[in-house]
Amino acid sequence: MNLAVIGLQFGDEGKGKIVDFLAEDFDIIARFCGGSNAGHSVMYEGEKFKLHLVPSGVLRGKIGVLGNGMVIDLEILKNEVDTLKAHGIEPRLIISSRAHVVTSFHKKMDEIEDEIRRIGTTRRGIGPAYETKVKRVGIRVGDLFHYETLLKRLNLMTRLWGIYDEKEVKKEAKKLQALAYEFRESVKDTEIWLNEAMLLGKSILFEGSQAVLLDIDFGTYPYVTSSSTFSGGICSGLGVNPRLIHRVMGVMKPYMTRVGAGPFPTEIFGDEAELLREKGGEYGATTGRPRRVGWLDMPLLRYATLIGSVDEIALTKVDILEGIDIIPVAWEYECDGKIMKYPPFNFERCKPIYRNFQGWSSLEDENLKNYIEMIEKEMGAKVRILSYGAGREATRLID
Ligand code: IMP
Repeated sequence: MNLAVIGLQFGDEGKGKIVDFLAEDFDIIARFCGGSNAGHSVMYEGEKFKLHLVPSGVLRGKIGVLGNGMVIDLEILKNEVDTLKAHGIEPRLIISSRAHVVTSFHKKMDEIEDEIRRIGTTRRGIGPAYETKVKRVGIRVGDLFHYETLLKRLNLMTRLWGIYDEKEVKKEAKKLQALAYEFRESVKDTEIWLNEAMLLGKSILFEGSQAVLLDIDFGTYPYVTSSSTFSGGICSGLGVNPRLIHRVMGVMKPYMTRVGAGPFPTEIFGDEAELLREKGGEYGATTGRPRRVGWLDMPLLRYATLIGSVDEIALTKVDILEGIDIIPVAWEYECDGKIMKYPPFNFERCKPIYRNFQGWSSLEDENLKNYIEMIEKEMGAKVRILSYGAGREATRLID
């Protein structure tokens, strides 16, 4: 059986931990979107690893695939691999020849553009890398082994951006070639490799990055990332048959967070927000930025579950709300006098209508059971995993 694990909020739901927890039951862990904008925190033998590109499951010795839908910064990937090796972990990676490469020019453009446009990107060159892909001047991992193609594409993209500098282009080409050489054994046509592996009966865990509400099509555009982060992105980001995605697990927290700009109807501020942020350690894994925090938003979650084709839910960080007496949940939106169960196209002017739920003091508390039942009923999917701490031991499977 193959399983997809995707985020249902604005990222940072704890997907890394859930993938690490489930990895044992799968042969291959495959990533299909994003790049080093992701920050998956995983505890391994008492140490915390922050992975940006390496799929979380490789810590368990599984094969990690970096799919064609990703954009890869080889310098960051090398640092991550070196860190893992220094800890005695030899990651088994396969990198798609069709994945696009993030160069220093992409990172430079991300900074220049975000200064003006202010989405609050991670400045890892992600948007510009997808931009050059669609503009058809991008560099794919496989192109790094053909110096002339590499140079031609670097020339084209820097000219189109108006930042061409012959010396810089040549320097970048040499750096990228050297990096590619290091990974030459790992580069494959992963779409063929993966399909053949499935034919041989290998099981795949598709590891999502970011989340449905940051998806380029279904997220809060333009405050989104630049790839297909929902379950549909698996088909284009890895080249697999949609019928082979057998189940989809959506990961969510019992409250909401967001980094960067964009609509957030249930956002809270002041001391209340500070308390939640500190208790939940809500600081960006990639950029260290304090995350915006707020209450659960059912219109957005109903939407994310529907679009993501979610079959089951992993509810993380349930310990963080422990000890709070009353937990408000946005039940519906009021938009220009109309009550809405789903967010309309433009919901910036909508006001959340809240329902209050009783807080819980332990995992066994009836109030937590009620909260979970509410989530299951409204989202139409069973909560299968409860997570209440960073380590694997703080995880409970529910039948
Ligand atoms: P980009 O992906 O760097 O272009 O950033 C676009 C938006 O997505 C910004 O608001 C980022 O903060 C957000 N973002 C990107 N990746 C992640 C993630 O892994 N977790 C949370 N937010 C993210």
